[in-house]
Amino acid sequence: MIRLIYSSALNPAYSPQSLLGLLAGYRARNQRLGINSLLLLMNKDFLQMLEGEEAAVDELYDFIQRDKHHLQLTLLSRETVSYPSFPGQPLVFIDTEELARKLGHPVHLSNIAPHGELDHAERAKRFVQEFINGKWHHHLANGLNPQVVHRR
Ligand SMILES: Cc1cc2nc3c(=O)[nH]c(=O)nc-3n(C[C@H](O)[C@H](O)[C@H](O)COP(=O)(O)O)c2cc1C
Repeated sequence: MIRLIYSSALNPAYSPQSLLGLLAGYRARNQRLGINSLLLLMNKDFLQMLEGEEAAVDELYDFIQRDKHHLQLTLLSRETVSYPSFPGQPLVFIDTEELARKLGHPVHLSNIAPHGELDHAERAKRFVQEFINGKWHHHLANGLNPQVVHRR
C-alpha cells in the first residue's frame, strides 16, 4: 500500500464550485478502487493525499495529472505504508476557508483529523500542517503565481 501526496492550483478557467459537483463521482471511483483520500482546498490551491494499492494509486494519479481543472501539480511524497490514515473514507473533502468560517477560527490540524487519523503518518501530518499554514500554495493572495513573480 502506498500514500501519495501532491499539491496543485485550481485552473483559473474553472470555479471551485464547478469541481464540487464532481466530487461524488470521484468518491465512487475511489471506493471502487479501494482508495482512501483526503482533499483539501484552500483559497485556490489543493493538497490531496491518496492511499491504496500501488497500481491503483499510480493509475489514478496519472488521470489526475492530466486533469485540466488544475495546474502546476507538484508531487510532494510517495511512500510505502502499512495501513491507511483514513480507512473506509474514499474521499474526505475539506474547503478550509469554509470550515474556518464555520468554526470562527483558522483551521487546526485537529479539525481535519479530529480522531488523530494522521498521528501515525508523520510525513502526511507535516504536509497537511504546512499546507494549512500557507506552504505548498501556488497562488499569492493577489492571484498571481509566485513562480512567475520571482522570474521577473
Ligand atoms: C484536485 C482534483 C482531485 C481529484 N481527485 C480525484 C479522486 O480522488 N478520484 C477520482 O476518481 N478522480 C479525481 N479527480 C478527477 C480525475 O482527475 C479525473 O478527471 C477523473 O478521474 C476522470 O474521470 P471522469 O471523466 O469520469 O470524471 C480529481 C481531480 C482534481 C482536479
